[in-house]
Amino acid sequence: MGMREDLERIRQEALESIAAVASDTELDAIRIRYSGKKGALTAILKTMGKLSAQERPAMGQLANEVRAKIEAALDERFTELKAKALDLRMEAETLDVTMPGRVAYPGHRHPLTTTIQDVRRVFESMGFETVEGPEVELVHYNFDLLNTAPNHPARDPQDTFYFDDDVVLRTQTSSVQGRVMETRQPPIRIIAPGRVYRSDDLDATHSPLFHQIEGMLIDRDVRMSDLKGYLEVFAQAIFGKETRVRFRPHHFPFTEPSAEMDVSCFVCGGKGCPLCKGEGWIEILGCGMVHTNVLSACGIDPEKYTGFAFGMGVERIAMLRYKIDEMRQFYDNDLRFLSQFN
Ligand code: DAH
Repeated sequence: MGMREDLERIRQEALESIAAVASDTELDAIRIRYSGKKGALTAILKTMGKLSAQERPAMGQLANEVRAKIEAALDERFTELKAKALDLRMEAETLDVTMPGRVAYPGHRHPLTTTIQDVRRVFESMGFETVEGPEVELVHYNFDLLNTAPNHPARDPQDTFYFDDDVVLRTQTSSVQGRVMETRQPPIRIIAPGRVYRSDDLDATHSPLFHQIEGMLIDRDVRMSDLKGYLEVFAQAIFGKETRVRFRPHHFPFTEPSAEMDVSCFVCGGKGCPLCKGEGWIEILGCGMVHTNVLSACGIDPEKYTGFAFGMGVERIAMLRYKIDEMRQFYDNDLRFLSQFN
């Protein structure tokens, strides 16, 4: 058989198999079979030398034509196959743009955290620094330094969680007072938020774990009128501009004189309603002038300095602000409750 027939045959076979392939790997195999180094076309070109000088140009031209034709067909088929593959993928991967999107639920602050932050903001705006103390505390700071008599009922293991004779879970953030006074001299203005513990059973208004915010200011010439002024600013910032405050005499071991502060009911304005139980006033915190015994025990000269202190329950304030009647809800982590504070 002559070379012309061989070339024609190769062209025809090649084009037929190119048309028949269904994948680009098959197509690669064909490319190698015909125009690769060891391919059929290359093999024929190698025999070109045996041709006569007259035949050679025409055969050379034909061979080039066949090669070009095959390569063009390969490229064209490759493009076709790619387009077909894309079509198939588009069909398989349907995208329904009318489907509802995936909603992200970002978290938010717990109402107790928000309350602490709001109170902090008020006092920080008046120059108070926020400090922290340990929850596992020495009896020394929780009771002794705070002028609390050895037989004081608050020390009773019925009320306080003891690790041993000297270590307790702090029952009040007042424990931070001594820790601060021991390490610095006046002027001192601090607030100390945090967890406190008492061996109470959990009910609607009690919990063995709750939160307090302590405050203390010590400087020269601090008077009871300063205490009242600062706490009035606080009450109006948290409960509203119309809020009035009143101080009732009370007793705490670590303050003298001591008082409890009430705010006028922010629901009825003082006329009496269910929230204030008809009283018109709501108890908010304990306070007083820091006892000279406390100052002395903590290394501060009571002849030179005076100060006031106060302590409030965070849960109580949050319950009043948000009208919550069940303290346990703060700790249940029920999103139906918590998400209302978003
Ligand atoms: N620690 C007190 C309590 O837990 C609250 C308190 C009262 C704190 C008077 C004070 C204060 O700093 O001066 O009931």
